[in-house]
Amino acid sequence: MIKYLGSKRVLLGPIVAAVRGLGPDVRSALDLFSGTARVGHALKKSGLFVTANDHLTYAATLAAAYVAADARVWAAPARALLAELAAIPAGPEGWFTRQVAREARYLQPHNAARVEAIREAIAARALPAPLEAIALTSLMEAADRVDSTAGVQMAYLKSWAARSHNALELRVPALLAGEGAALQLDARDAAATEADVAYLDPPYNQHSYLGNYHVWETLARWDAPETYGVANKRVECKTYKNAFNSRVRIGAALAEVIARVRAPELVVSFSDEGFLAREELEAMLGARGHVRVVAARYERYVGAKIGIYDPKGNKVGRPSHLENTEMIFIVSPERARAEAAAARCLAALGERAAGAASAAGTAGTNVQLELPLR
Ligand SMILES: C[S@@+](CC[C@H](N)C(=O)[O-])C[C@H]1O[C@@H](n2cnc3c(N)ncnc32)[C@H](O)[C@@H]1O
Repeated sequence: MIKYLGSKRVLLGPIVAAVRGLGPDVRSALDLFSGTARVGHALKKSGLFVTANDHLTYAATLAAAYVAADARVWAAPARALLAELAAIPAGPEGWFTRQVAREARYLQPHNAARVEAIREAIAARALPAPLEAIALTSLMEAADRVDSTAGVQMAYLKSWAARSHNALELRVPALLAGEGAALQLDARDAAATEADVAYLDPPYNQHSYLGNYHVWETLARWDAPETYGVANKRVECKTYKNAFNSRVRIGAALAEVIARVRAPELVVSFSDEGFLAREELEAMLGARGHVRVVAARYERYVGAKIGIYDPKGNKVGRPSHLENTEMIFIVSPERARAEAAAARCLAALGERAAGAASAAGTAGTNVQLELPLR
């Protein structure tokens, strides 16, 4: 799956444990801010009916492949289609290659030209929606493996990243058997979807996902957008406003989504680097029931490890720290269920961070596990 800011890659086990730990009667989940769709994928794999939602096109595409598509129906056609697409050579360099490889340098021209040719072939085939989403997911992930960025598409590296020399390789996404649903809505509207548990992982600071991943948005929409600046961002990035990226507006925005959620129980992720403090979140969620918090030290995204760059790709700074604390809030009208889920979540964290299994004994309190997760 793609490299992504705020991705819950290392916390999948604890998040699934929190959701499933609420009780055996939990059968469905709603992932309101689905991003890479990896949480929805893990919840579906655990046996739940999952609805995954994200307001950006590329993220809704990932959700359509990883959560909504049924492997029993689509795995075989996907294998055949991807084998055909993989055989397509680079074509003439068009607008995409110029934008992402000649003007900006996110991909090497030989890979950008292949991405462009394959994307054109996908567009020309008028595929059924699930198959198109699977092909686009495979293409985005292939491009991500050979990109030349420090993790986000805001600036590119001065010298090509080592991985960018590799040839583009389409792989079949890990589809799951069973039904699911994908939505592309504002979280406020998606919150009305019926589910037993809602999982909320909203943006938590000023960094906009549209600005950071504008190349994926363009790849998904294939709309030859007008672009601007050295990073060649889509022109609407200039005017795009998201309350979750505003220190002033995030509180009201999240409170509104929480109030609109129909699911009786919630699991919420938030970082200690975010605009809202743990106490504010506990107070907000308290309106929905008993709140338990499990927190864990977490390694920051790959860009933080590589360093901070200016638009020309020169290293201009070092990140202040390489770890932050990820909090998982578990909310239920029934105290015993919130506590049981917190205990399961904590035990899963203990398994994840070797040697911390004894932490599971602290159920009933708000607990913090101070171990680096790798
Ligand atoms: C922290 S990321 C989610 C990461 C995800 N859990 C994962 O593991 O990949 C937050 C996501 O919220 C989405 N988002 C931001 N504002 C939104 C809104 N108002 N409605 C729906 N989705 C939104 C962003 O596009 C982004 O993908």
